[in-house]
Amino acid sequence: MVTGGAGFIGANFIRYVLTKTDFTGRIINFDKLTYAGNPENLADIADQYPARYVLEQGDICDPKRVADVLQKYQVDAVAHFAAESHVDRSILGPGEFVRTNIEGTFTLLEAVRDLWKDRKDVLFHHVSTDEVYGSLGQEGYFTETTPYDPRSPYSASKAASDHLVSAYFHTYGLAVTKSNCSNNYGPYHFPEKLIPLMILKLQKGETLPVYGDGKNIRDWLYVEDHAEAIWTVMTKGVLGETYNVGGENEWENLKLVQVLCEKTAVALGRPAQEFLSLIRFVPDRPGHDRRYAIDCSKIKKELGWKPRTEFSQGLEKTVAWYLANPEWVQNVVSGAYKTWLERNYSAR
Ligand code: NAD
Ligand code: TYD
Repeated sequence: MVTGGAGFIGANFIRYVLTKTDFTGRIINFDKLTYAGNPENLADIADQYPARYVLEQGDICDPKRVADVLQKYQVDAVAHFAAESHVDRSILGPGEFVRTNIEGTFTLLEAVRDLWKDRKDVLFHHVSTDEVYGSLGQEGYFTETTPYDPRSPYSASKAASDHLVSAYFHTYGLAVTKSNCSNNYGPYHFPEKLIPLMILKLQKGETLPVYGDGKNIRDWLYVEDHAEAIWTVMTKGVLGETYNVGGENEWENLKLVQVLCEKTAVALGRPAQEFLSLIRFVPDRPGHDRRYAIDCSKIKKELGWKPRTEFSQGLEKTVAWYLANPEWVQNVVSGAYKTWLERNYSAR
């Protein structure tokens, strides 16, 4: 069962597992279909794999619904992606983050503990973020032993969920693994996040809001490389262990936005200068973490994973994808996919 499989990374993960690994089982996508969950992300997969891909709409905070689906399919592995994921939204309304990210994770843990008892041939993999480690200065990297120091309601809620997962390993012997990843980019990214937001603003000729002085640093990883990392941890990782995942690819926001201007200009056949002049510095995000940078040597050395996608090529693929999929963009921003959903799935 993949929770949150209709979102950005979950959908890319399901696509990756079904099309690029030797997995032969069935994937249950358990998703509430919030504003960020879009079944259209996997419409082609649903057609191609009717016996191996199932969407079950449900809330991870609903113990009965969770237990029913786990029982119905006799689920033996959970990849837990479902979360409220946007820092700006968590500042405006932290309640939903506490509910889904903390209570939802707790509900899932209780449900699998009840179903699996002492089984060891099962797995709960928890997908988390590097933001739990707080903010770095100019030097240093987050390792798996960096003390937790979350600063936003989003990262605090993810930190709490990480601790619950570890607690279930130590206290109840639940078979768990965890991964903490840096910023992802790629297709199906909801256009409230930096990279897709900027591409779509460029397409429309709108100004580009860069928070603060634009010198905050993020470490970017192509989403399919993250999917591969999660699959690697799920199939080769050691129970109870955490693996940091990152792109070894640090960029200041302003520089990244400038590169996006250049790539989008090339894709649209327009002069880059026209786009660069759209950049505007806007008031900073409260508590804006200065720098994230992941040391991913553990997963590289112990499990043989490494980031594959070169950033320039990954960005070009991403720009091309957004420009080629205006209908997807229109649907997610207008919420029109809800109509699509009603047509394709009966509401439960
Ligand atoms: P997303 O916002 O695109 O998708 C979240 C999905 O979870 C959506 O499909 C949504 O419908 C579903 N969901 C939300 N609340 C739910 C609930 N109560 N019950 C069931 N489903 C629910 O998020 P994303 O960017 O794909 O992130 C997925 C996971 O990866 C999250 O746990 C996030 O913390 C983690 N993560 C994200 C990044 C990143 O760069 N986006 C980096 C590291 C880790
Ligand atoms: P975001 O994509 O929201 O991811 P996160 O906050 O989880 O890292 O933002 C990435 C960076 O870009 C972050 O430093 C905030 C900054 N940012 C802007 O400067 N302008 C924007 O409009 C957005 C959405 C983000």
